[in-house]
Amino acid sequence: MSTIRKIGVLTGGGDAPGLNGVIRALVKSAILDHNLKVVGFNDGFSGMVGMKTRDLGLDDVRGILPRGGTILGTTNRGNPFEFVERLADGTERVFDASGVVEQNFRRLGLDALVVIGGDGTLAIADRLMRENGIPVVGVPKTIDNDLAATDRTFGFATAVEVATDALDRLHTTAESHHRIMLLEVMGREAGWIALHSGIAGGADVILIPEIPFDMEAVIAKVWARQNRGTSFSIIVVAEGARARDGEQVFSSVDPVTGWKRLGGISYQLAPILQEKTGLEVRVTVLGHIQRGGSPCAADRILATQLGAEAARLVMEEKFGHMVALRGETIEAVPLEQAINRLKLVDPDGQLVRNARSLGLVFGDEDPEAILDSE
Ligand code: F6P
Repeated sequence: MSTIRKIGVLTGGGDAPGLNGVIRALVKSAILDHNLKVVGFNDGFSGMVGMKTRDLGLDDVRGILPRGGTILGTTNRGNPFEFVERLADGTERVFDASGVVEQNFRRLGLDALVVIGGDGTLAIADRLMRENGIPVVGVPKTIDNDLAATDRTFGFATAVEVATDALDRLHTTAESHHRIMLLEVMGREAGWIALHSGIAGGADVILIPEIPFDMEAVIAKVWARQNRGTSFSIIVVAEGARARDGEQVFSSVDPVTGWKRLGGISYQLAPILQEKTGLEVRVTVLGHIQRGGSPCAADRILATQLGAEAARLVMEEKFGHMVALRGETIEAVPLEQAINRLKLVDPDGQLVRNARSLGLVFGDEDPEAILDSE
């Protein structure tokens, strides 16, 4: 007979479509199947520091499955070990608030904490368990699909759908105007969104962080298409991509946490392409549209599975673990296996290889060979 009676849940880091699906499945399963009480913390770990809580009952999760975002709110500035507090005079101070988190966890009479987040949030959960004795169960989340130890993260399929739809739309206008269209997508250090949407959207060039590119190869692909009578090209650029002789491009740096936000590389590529090809170039940076809105069916199903299995892990007291998709089933994986290990695109993998076999260019090819091949 389990002694678990009451659990807490929070969502941390950037949001992803499907978060509400996890919350709904966790709450329903916790109440209906395991007879638990559930308390939600608002805005990630900062809700644990500031005791911003709400009880979560069946009525609170009704109708949220198709909703994007998270009903609990989130932040990527909520690390309790380096908590950023805004003072009355507008300045900010950073201090260790992990003791406050532990105190509040105990004050609420919680037996376990379910943490839904990406690598950073799960690393914090792991540390809270080790250093503060908070029993945690993790649920991996990110549109970037870059977490090791799980085959897929929810939010990724939706982001790929959105980016593919954008490519379909860019295709028709590119063709009409004989332009080069650059679509910049998210993904941080991983090129998964760019690779999948680029293939699904029939792109001509895909630039990803895992394959540093040479501008000459990109230009050769555009010329090759021109020589064949196709006067437009579609290029997908992952925000983390970089030229062989260049650096990644950042759009901002958080002054307190030092967090560097990727973005803007396509604005650097556009004038070079325009000059070297003589074609007009337009840039679309898809941004947070990839993260917003309703999750697709695949993400809703994955989110539901993860939420229900997270409740089961809690009941089995498998703390320090996260739920992970392995093949077709959800398994428990130790948190330490999941954090600090990115899952990146394999440049020699099957997907890249097959894309190359269709003439898709990744920017590391010999420009002469590209020109000869079309
Ligand atoms: O990790 C998810 C993600 O959307 C990345 O793809 C992107 O680089 C980052 O978050 C953007 O962060 P923010 O929402 O803080 O702008």
